[in-house]
Amino acid sequence: MMQGLYVHVPFCPTICPYCDFHVVRRHGGVVAAYLERLAEEASALHEQYPGPLRTLYFGGGTPSFLRSAELWALFTTLPWEIGGAEVTLEANPGTLNAERLQLLRSLGVNRLSLGVQSFQDDVLKTLGRAHGRKGALKAVEMSLEAGFCTSLDLILGLPGQDCEADLREARALGVGHISAYTLQIEPGTPFALANLQPDEEQEARAFEQAEEILGEAGFVRYEVSNFALPQQESQHNRVYWQLGFWGALGPGAAAHLPAEAGKALYAIRASNRPLPRWLAGEAPATEEIGPLEHAKEALMLGLRLREGVDVGRLEARTSLDLWSPLRSVVEQMASEGYLKVVGKHIRAKSLNTIHPLILRLWNALDSISPPGTTPH
Ligand SMILES: C[S@@+](CC[C@H](N)C(=O)[O-])C[C@H]1O[C@@H](n2cnc3c(N)ncnc32)[C@H](O)[C@@H]1O
Ligand code: SF4
Repeated sequence: MMQGLYVHVPFCPTICPYCDFHVVRRHGGVVAAYLERLAEEASALHEQYPGPLRTLYFGGGTPSFLRSAELWALFTTLPWEIGGAEVTLEANPGTLNAERLQLLRSLGVNRLSLGVQSFQDDVLKTLGRAHGRKGALKAVEMSLEAGFCTSLDLILGLPGQDCEADLREARALGVGHISAYTLQIEPGTPFALANLQPDEEQEARAFEQAEEILGEAGFVRYEVSNFALPQQESQHNRVYWQLGFWGALGPGAAAHLPAEAGKALYAIRASNRPLPRWLAGEAPATEEIGPLEHAKEALMLGLRLREGVDVGRLEARTSLDLWSPLRSVVEQMASEGYLKVVGKHIRAKSLNTIHPLILRLWNALDSISPPGTTPH
């Protein structure tokens, strides 16, 4: 029932000027208090969902910033059996060394997601990153040497960035997975206050280059922002994109878990709270997801995937007739060359232009009256 588990580790050595994730710098006994509260949360969730887990993901913040004893405490706090699971940990290049990597291996981590962003010193400086080009290359080399499936995060289309050079460098390093983002200017961040504006044309070009340059080396763009060699796709993120069920621990994590059977609901989403309130034991706010809302979200996420989405499967999941309202708009979009359609399976022809497609599908679904159906 719970396929994946996300553990949010909110600590970072410094706060990057573009970041609006739920992050804090370590102070006083905050990490010890975090670990204590996490143990309580984990034990309550484990009682309800004892496993097994298919995926476990430590995200942040910067999980690799924890000290060795804290990492050990974090892992031993989790009561789930993780043998056979994909276990990913997000890491900043500056926080890794051989001893740390060995510890992570011994704790069961088999996949590292490295926040490289770029291999160009001036770009990294603009981003306010603590590492430079050398640090990024060293981290990748050590991660691969230590035997981790290794993924890189890149941000593309930045001012002064030679995206082609970054992409060529990334593909030559021997990693199996690359996530590529465009810089989001988040309200309230120093970048927003400095009124930085991304160049959308440059960003669009960078993604075309990414498809071409990474494609030449066998990477497949399997999701809008994600490229992988065969067998190297992120299983954990697949649970999100296919709107499966996952649990979440930590102050800034959001779970998506089954609703009680018998109600006109598909799922419950529980999102977490500011660190002090979470530490004080405040329960997460929950949001109820009905079948129609689930279908809309699943369509949006499914169209971000190269393989698209099977509306027939969604109908079975939600007990809604989705195809009647969708059919004519789907056929129209197929005739315009935007969608490929086989039976009730739809997929976008280009992952660069999915937003208008999603809006058209959602508009068509708005004709469905509020459902009184029971979820499967
Ligand atoms: C949750 S962050 C954590 C990773 C790690 N702390 C780091 O920064 O290296 C995951 C990734 O999100 C991306 N990211 C964070 N803020 C972003 C922003 N404002 N715009 C685009 N990408 C962003 C970065 O590529 C980052 O590596
Ligand atoms: S290190 Fe990562 S999570 Fe931390 S502030 Fe920077 S971008 Fe955000």
